[in-house]
Amino acid sequence: MKMTDEQSLHILNQIHDLYSYNKIAENTAGYSYNFGKVLYDKILEFKPKRVVEFGPKFGYTTLFMATALAARGEGKIKTYDLWQEKREIYQNDHFSSFDKDTFQRCINTIIQDNPDLNKHIEHETKDYYKWLDSPFAFDFDLLYVDVNNTGDTIEKTYNRLKSHITNGAIVIFAGGNQAKDHHRMYKGLKPIYPLKDDIGYTIIHDDSSSASLSMISWNSRE
Ligand SMILES: C[S@@+](CC[C@H](N)C(=O)[O-])C[C@H]1O[C@@H](n2cnc3c(N)ncnc32)[C@H](O)[C@@H]1O
Repeated sequence: MKMTDEQSLHILNQIHDLYSYNKIAENTAGYSYNFGKVLYDKILEFKPKRVVEFGPKFGYTTLFMATALAARGEGKIKTYDLWQEKREIYQNDHFSSFDKDTFQRCINTIIQDNPDLNKHIEHETKDYYKWLDSPFAFDFDLLYVDVNNTGDTIEKTYNRLKSHITNGAIVIFAGGNQAKDHHRMYKGLKPIYPLKDDIGYTIIHDDSSSASLSMISWNSRE
């Protein structure tokens, strides 16, 4: 069953409110509404039936995309993260407090009020790079990747999925602007922005901070 625009926008506001600064867990950054809304709009634009997400952390982006699927009344988002296995790496910054329980608590809070979303979401613990090397890596129409992306992540992603992208699959990833490369967390790691022309990605959200989004699709190549 499809939702009205009013219903789905009401859910987006609920999600945004739940994820506001420090509400979910101590020291969690607040989320920009536009960041989630760009992903929501892309799901409505491309109408993917199989959405795969890597790196949902607490599930903010998962819920925005699932709401778009529910608005259309079809499709599923499979979301994967390592959750606490990566915890020790980020213990000195604001990523330290993430865990799978918090993810589930947040997702359940929104699903309780909006049970329609439930049939559109599946989640599992899985490593992105192992998945990328596996035969399942082509089982998506739209992939969203946010696994602390570096230039290596995007290069590996593009090399592995190029043929699938040529056939119409869409890849959206966090980052792609220069501010993201300059964030202290990515110091000394391979930057993404210098790959822009070779890969032919388009920046689809850029608020001049590190919170940018980019898209690789065959049609968007300039
Ligand atoms: C920057 S955070 C994601 C932020 C999240 N998308 C959001 O909007 O709140 C990166 C996430 O990627 C996960 N991650 C890091 N490396 C990963 C990997 N190799 N496979 C799967 N998940 C990974 C981390 O556990 C963390 O939750």
